[in-house]
Amino acid sequence: MATERTSLFIFFGGTGDLAYRKLYPSMFNLYKKGTLREHFAVIGTSRNKLTDQAFQDEVRKSLGTAKSDKEAEKFISHFFYEAHDVTDKEHYSVLRDRANELDKQFKLQGNRIFYLSLAPSFFGTVAGYLKETGLTDSQGFDRLIIEKPFGRDFDSAKQLNDALSKSFEEDQIFRIDHYLGKEMIQNIEAVRFGNTLVESLWNNRYIDNIQVTLSEKLGVEERASYYDNSGALRDMVQNHIMQIVSLLAMEQPVSFTDVDIRAEKVKALRSLRVYNVADASTNFVRGQYGAGDSQRAYRDEDNVPHDSTNETFVAGKLLFDNYRWSGTPFYIRTGKMLADKFTRVDVVFKKPLIDIFSFPQNHNAPLEANVLTMYIEPKAGFTLRLNAKTNGQGFQTTPINLDYFVDDKDSKETPEPYERLLHDTMKGDGTNFASWSEVSYAWRFVDQIRKVWDLQQPEFPNYTPGSMGPAAADELIQRDHRQWVYRLNK
Ligand code: NDP
Ligand code: BG6
Repeated sequence: MATERTSLFIFFGGTGDLAYRKLYPSMFNLYKKGTLREHFAVIGTSRNKLTDQAFQDEVRKSLGTAKSDKEAEKFISHFFYEAHDVTDKEHYSVLRDRANELDKQFKLQGNRIFYLSLAPSFFGTVAGYLKETGLTDSQGFDRLIIEKPFGRDFDSAKQLNDALSKSFEEDQIFRIDHYLGKEMIQNIEAVRFGNTLVESLWNNRYIDNIQVTLSEKLGVEERASYYDNSGALRDMVQNHIMQIVSLLAMEQPVSFTDVDIRAEKVKALRSLRVYNVADASTNFVRGQYGAGDSQRAYRDEDNVPHDSTNETFVAGKLLFDNYRWSGTPFYIRTGKMLADKFTRVDVVFKKPLIDIFSFPQNHNAPLEANVLTMYIEPKAGFTLRLNAKTNGQGFQTTPINLDYFVDDKDSKETPEPYERLLHDTMKGDGTNFASWSEVSYAWRFVDQIRKVWDLQQPEFPNYTPGSMGPAAADELIQRDHRQWVYRLNK
């Protein structure tokens, strides 16, 4: 049985899409596993005027449970509601009194988690008022969970961080990057630092290049008003991809703690080469999907301007100027409306310096590079491509795969990212959240690309739905005499 954690949760934006779709179901999973038991309570807030009862009805719907489900009903009885406009300072005292009441009723030891599931423009205001009106004055811990996006460039992110820092210390701020809550992303550290075989080869002497692909099959769906002001670079690269890349590139941390892991990720990001104008243009490409057989072009989607120059695809080459990675590029790509939905990392090793099996009399195909593939989602596992002898007379070689995949039963038991991240916040473990330093170095890198792109008019649309992006993404890697490991029609 899990250790019970005690806390009051206040969800700002508690009637929003994220809260109903992800947060409450994740909390219910924690309840079923025993992490949440008797000593927790939830206050949902938004401007909507709801009774506790009406809110509990909505929570039940979000869990998909019936009133006859006793366990779910017990869980739901810990949920309360306060109509609250986050910009109304006076009203925070009402919220404080309700929080104090629930604290006594459920014996919560003054522990509080404030979850800002709101438009980012409110983050600074809420953090300030929480402090000013004494909501953070209780005896226990006070932790602030912040949803993405954290700024839209370095300057706005810094402004936001300065505002938060007036009320909360860095170790009280938990910046969500839900990719860090994914099981297989956490496996990167296990595979690297748990295996001499892997870590001793994890450098530019043996690795030719690393490829990170976050491919989405869906388009922009109903989120155009947000997405058209963000684009794939800000939406996926600045956060999720930079986090994955820093886990792949970092040195071994002194210990497996949030402080030491973050220190190494920051060091890696500091050595990431920030491009000048010419290099940004050469090393990054963008795309926007056009129309497909039964698919509208991005520019024809609801709430997208007909002349939008927003990118729905990015591919790029990242270079680390440090001893471990100098000369070994990291290629990244992400986009919407691509061939399939998956996330994977392909680590391509260098070929043997001499191929002794390919001599004229032998007619053997040249040796292929070893590739370690980490399948993040939807299937979770690894394959390692090696060269082996084919069965039988003669001496021909062929690539074979060693593989391991998480089975269906274990997959079902894998915690959802939000479940894991809520649990980590209750434990006060910041390992799987983005620190301010990481966020700021990621913005410095991304801002340069954005700056260059904002000066140039792209030729959009430039890829068809169901493809793996524009031809320029293939040219980017072919120019270096390499290929994407995952490609269509190979
Ligand atoms: P929604 O628009 O669905 O919900 C916003 C919530 O904020 C509602 O409960 C709304 O209620 C409340 N709200 C708005 N204005 C105020 C106000 N002045 N005072 C109090 N409450 C207010 O947004 P999402 O749930 O989709 O997103 C929330 C956050 O999570 C955003 O930062 C988003 O970027 C992030 N996010 C969301 C994802 C998702 O899948 N939905 C994925 C990743 C991140 P009301 O209008 O009644 O006040
Ligand atoms: C979110 C982006 O952060 O990640 C979305 O805002 C994207 O645009 C989503 O679709 C992808 O997450 P996942 O977990 O489905 O790969």
